[in-house]
Amino acid sequence: MSSEPISAAIDALRTANTITVLTGAGMSAESGVPTFRDVQTGLWAKYNPMTLATPEAWEDDPALVWAWYQRRRAMLAAVEPNAGHQALATWARTADVRLVTQNVDDLHERAGSSDVVHVHGSLFACRCDTCGREHDAEVSDPEGDRVLPPECECGGLVRPGVVWFGEMLPQNAFAEATARSEACDVFILVGTSGVVYPAAGLPHIARGAGATIIEINPDETDLSDACDITLRSTAAVALPAMVDALASSHDT
Ligand code: APR
Repeated sequence: MSSEPISAAIDALRTANTITVLTGAGMSAESGVPTFRDVQTGLWAKYNPMTLATPEAWEDDPALVWAWYQRRRAMLAAVEPNAGHQALATWARTADVRLVTQNVDDLHERAGSSDVVHVHGSLFACRCDTCGREHDAEVSDPEGDRVLPPECECGGLVRPGVVWFGEMLPQNAFAEATARSEACDVFILVGTSGVVYPAAGLPHIARGAGATIIEINPDETDLSDACDITLRSTAAVALPAMVDALASSHDT
């Protein structure tokens, strides 16, 4: 990481009252969060995740879909938040830092961040497929490729609280993400390729409202041109470096 972009980032952050951070899959990469490819081993190798993560699959075979999500939750339970997640949680104790994530994992929460907006839902917040009541998720590795999902009091089935292919984003979460994008002085994008809308539209909303946009990503993305400052580094390296440098700049 060259010192120039980081000092530009510190300059912008020093005077910011409100910071909004949008995270994507790259945020959790250094935690070793299992990708679809990692999950599709053993008895799962014969299934295609693109067809499992759909309302149609749930309709046809809820036990198969539930077991696959149990497998994903169990694999996630075996990894830890990384230094980037920790840095964001630490920073929010002394500054108005608001998180929006496209990730369905719980690593921000496990690092100590509260009030995280999950625009694509969460593996751990389940709900009834009929009445919508919220239910806790079970974390146990399934023995086979079918496990009947729990039943809700209303007789419906408990489904994973993630946004499946072809589904709408949760309305309240997206409204809150939009409000956080409109209201910030600095908007930081971490580890997102910026190709999946409407989440990829959030930095444009922030920019339109006058925010400075910072990107943290080792690679160029579709959003890079719309950013004011780019840190070509990883989440677990750049975020602690930036938060530490900001804290020292306040001390001087
Ligand atoms: N630190 C920061 N960024 C990283 C790191 C890292 N260690 N490793 C990879 N990246 C970057 C990649 O360069 C890429 O730009 O993270 C980005 C990951 O992009 P995607 O895999 O497309 O993830 P994301 O942008 O979160 O995808 C959005 O698409 O798959 C759907 O619903 C799913 O929420 C997801 C959405």
